[in-house]
Amino acid sequence: MRSLIDIADLSVEEIDALIAKAEDIIANPDKYAEKCHGRKLATLFYEPSTRTRLSFESAMLELGGSVIGFSEAQSSSAAKGESVADTARVISCFADIIAMRHPKEGAPLVAAMNASIPVINAGDGGHNHPTQTLTDLLTIKREKGRLDHMTVGCCGDLKFGRTVHSLLGAMSRYEGVDFVLISPEELKVPEHVRTDILKARSVAYRETESLQEAMPDLDVLYMTRVQRERFISEADYVRLKDTYILTPDKLTTAKPDLSILHPLPRVNEISVAIDSDPRACYFRQVLNGKFIRMALILMLLEVE
Ligand code: NCD
Repeated sequence: MRSLIDIADLSVEEIDALIAKAEDIIANPDKYAEKCHGRKLATLFYEPSTRTRLSFESAMLELGGSVIGFSEAQSSSAAKGESVADTARVISCFADIIAMRHPKEGAPLVAAMNASIPVINAGDGGHNHPTQTLTDLLTIKREKGRLDHMTVGCCGDLKFGRTVHSLLGAMSRYEGVDFVLISPEELKVPEHVRTDILKARSVAYRETESLQEAMPDLDVLYMTRVQRERFISEADYVRLKDTYILTPDKLTTAKPDLSILHPLPRVNEISVAIDSDPRACYFRQVLNGKFIRMALILMLLEVE
């Protein structure tokens, strides 16, 4: 039995197989409509979510399975003081697979160590978000036709943005990918990402505060929201929240085939005027999230 806690839990071959499976699901949805008949997904969400929870749920429903769960900690026994370990044991009696989001880094790992069913990390604090990364990889593959030999710019809150940490962990394993990390000084990538991923893998990267300076080089621009809920000081959030706002004039130096991704939700870091630009991929990205989660559920439940 396997869980997905960190994107490094999957080999590159497995990631490529998941992408191929998702593409087959997109092409032949009827083939998969009953694959998880009689199986149950539990979504345990201790933190707000729209896309991730509902895409997991619609993924399981489209596989013919069913869904149980909660969408806020206050409506679960966590409010009475139950530990994540105990909750994981309990849910193992009711469901076949768990998707868990939690504000504490490491909570889904604790769940996986105590559950007798697979656990998927649907975002743990400012740490990791592997299924968003699978979504991002499927999107880049569909938009660009490849996952190697490109320059990826990550812009915004690279310190607290868990989606960026997992994306760097995944894309740094493909050949010829280099990164431009665009953030204010205070929101640069954390030391664990720098040491365990960028330095450990000798990844080609540079850091800049200027989106304008980076723009002409980029094949992919991954925009992120400044993660208000992770700041200790509201004043720091207010000072940093509008550092980057992507507007059409800033795209004048961009490549004509740039792909603009964003895990969403967007606050104001991408102007709505960009939405109609064919380079804006973020709403297509949402749909890809459902298909790759279908592929992942099939893999972890070992459904042929
Ligand atoms: C992201 C997350 O939860 O980390 N959202 C998502 O899952 N699509 C990004 C964010 O909240 O900014």
